Amino acid sequence: MNARHKMDSQSEDVLAEMAQGVIGTGAPRLDGPVKVTGQAKYAAEIGDGSEAVGVFVRATIAKGRVASIDKVSALAMPGVLSVITDERLLRNPAQGTANEAPVQGASEVAYFGQPIALVVADGFEQARHAAQNITVNYHSEDAVTDPLDGTAQIELPDAKQTAQGDVSTAMAQAAFSVDKTYTTPSQNSAAMEPHASIAQWAGDKLTLHGSYQMLKYNRNELADALGIEPKNVRILAPYVGGGFGSKLGLAPEAVAAAIAAKELNRPVRVVMTRPQVFEATIRRSSTLQRLRLAADIDGNLTAIGHDATVSNLPGEGFSEPVALATHFLYAGKNRAYAHRIARVHRTCAGSMRAPGEAIGMLALENAMDELAHNSGIDPVELRLRNIPEKHPENDKDFSSRRFADCLALGAEKFGWSARSATPGQVRDGEWLIGMGMSSAARGNILSDAKARVTLHADATVTVETDMTDIGTGTYTILGQIAAEMLGLPLESVTVKLGDTDFPAAAGSGGSWGASSVGSAVFLACQSLRKDIAQMVDAAPADITLKDGVVTTGNVQKSLAETLTVDFTAVGQIEPGDTSSAVEQAGFGAHFAEVAVNVVTGETRVRRMLGVFSAGRILNERTARSQCYGGMIFGIGAALTEELVHDHRDGHIVNHNLAEYHIPVNLDVPQLDVVFLEERDSWANPIQSKGVGELGISGAGAAITNAIFNASGVRVRDYPATLDKIL
Ligand code: MOS
Repeated sequence: MNARHKMDSQSEDVLAEMAQGVIGTGAPRLDGPVKVTGQAKYAAEIGDGSEAVGVFVRATIAKGRVASIDKVSALAMPGVLSVITDERLLRNPAQGTANEAPVQGASEVAYFGQPIALVVADGFEQARHAAQNITVNYHSEDAVTDPLDGTAQIELPDAKQTAQGDVSTAMAQAAFSVDKTYTTPSQNSAAMEPHASIAQWAGDKLTLHGSYQMLKYNRNELADALGIEPKNVRILAPYVGGGFGSKLGLAPEAVAAAIAAKELNRPVRVVMTRPQVFEATIRRSSTLQRLRLAADIDGNLTAIGHDATVSNLPGEGFSEPVALATHFLYAGKNRAYAHRIARVHRTCAGSMRAPGEAIGMLALENAMDELAHNSGIDPVELRLRNIPEKHPENDKDFSSRRFADCLALGAEKFGWSARSATPGQVRDGEWLIGMGMSSAARGNILSDAKARVTLHADATVTVETDMTDIGTGTYTILGQIAAEMLGLPLESVTVKLGDTDFPAAAGSGGSWGASSVGSAVFLACQSLRKDIAQMVDAAPADITLKDGVVTTGNVQKSLAETLTVDFTAVGQIEPGDTSSAVEQAGFGAHFAEVAVNVVTGETRVRRMLGVFSAGRILNERTARSQCYGGMIFGIGAALTEELVHDHRDGHIVNHNLAEYHIPVNLDVPQLDVVFLEERDSWANPIQSKGVGELGISGAGAAITNAIFNASGVRVRDYPATLDKIL
């Protein structure tokens, strides 16, 4: 049966009562033991070793056509089975659901590093060696690879240019103002597990073991890329070693493995190397952002302007929505936004963790700090003064928003009052010490999701959905929701994920996964509670389910004795009207203390605190870990992460984890995370909001603001490497 949420109080009855108290507790990850003991099999590890192995040959020009590929010597090498130059390989599938892949001809190259052929051999070394011995001739064309040097074609999509009032006049009349330009570099998601696929055909049915985030979409993308029906495609991804956006959409290795497996009539494995992940999946766009802030004598914002230039391949449908949070976070009557897309021949720019807020807030929150400094108003106070009553552009109410509480509690817990308002005042040996803060905000989204829950006659439960767990805790929270709703211990629930044969969920993306599929599980269980109630001749509202016992009035009976057959229900959630009636977002505040070395210019983060409100927290431990991860992403964005493009051909120079610097343990200090209690009855039946990407949104700006407080140096070009500080 299907259930559809229609904005009522249906969740209150069961979840307010919380007979079990399992939801919200920090239950350890159900998938933890199999992951840390190596028993969890990732995509590349499936199979019996008899698979053929494919290795990509990739373009060494930024733009042009492949004139010829000399396969002869490669085909003569030991173990080599095929050199595949199928035109379907050249279509770039590496884009998420909102994106259209660039349409390319059979031989067109759109960026340096693009896969153009696949060498397949019995063994990996054979395939790799042969791939290195393929000669490719190109008709090379001039390519624009720099989005900012004036050569790129700039598009201004109408729908993304908006204004209300008159920002320029407000700026001219302001008591205090900021008008500054910020840059953020290309970044890579750098998930630990590289993109990997094993494809196998049985007749016209394809099974793909892959590492992906959103299987129902990935299945359609793979079918489209191959020109077959989605019903003939099954994708399995029970374990995913991180995605951070890079696995939202299909990557080239899945298509290549499927084509090769069909041609050879044999399973084929294609695992991307780290340089291939960097160059041939997606990057986060670099940005140029201009922030204008105007305030009156009391620090009340009168105008906000946020202009951004992003970079994408010609024809790419997606572009990073940089100003997302700027639209709703602060008051200010006069507002203007410009969104420019520079068309360049660089690796596809897709969604990377918290697309929009993650980098838009680096600029916005840096500018707010500068406005606070210019006006002599404390940065926390400035933000508190500018929290709008309603959405400042559409006048809608917020569904829930403990933004002010996060700011105030964070300041108190962090010891913010000890901060010197004048920069450069606190010294510890050769280190200058400073504190900085930033707001956190990330829009909340609900997405279509289904889940099937079976209550077996022995009072055990199976949850099945094609949802993925990309390290976020999905297995565990879905188990907790089912256990809570059916009054059983968590150990009685088996959660099965990552298989397109199961009911289609929302996938892991946009921080909507837990709320969306969690609601589907909730609704399925709500239906099962009716079945249980019927077994004891009671109304659903009159039963209590706890510790495996059904209680009706004074009568208690074990659930296992009550049940005589299995009951199955499919829960389905759809966004419906509730998503547009109000504004929905998670809110929070970041605080950071840094030390800046006066000799080397190096910055060390000494401690960070994040205070967040994101509706009901489904698992205190996994939610906290999500926020840790986000804050660590913030450290990377602030201090180290930068993809460097060669100006001649756009190719990514530092395409490995030795030279693309993500924070390691020594870069990450004590992190504290505090959640403020919140229930959001507008958001979904379980009253939760997305939490994963909230932790990154704003985090990096708290660090650059702390650098300013420590040293008096205002870094507006991210990352704040030592050359920009000395
Ligand atoms: Mo996220 S960028 O939607 O994985």
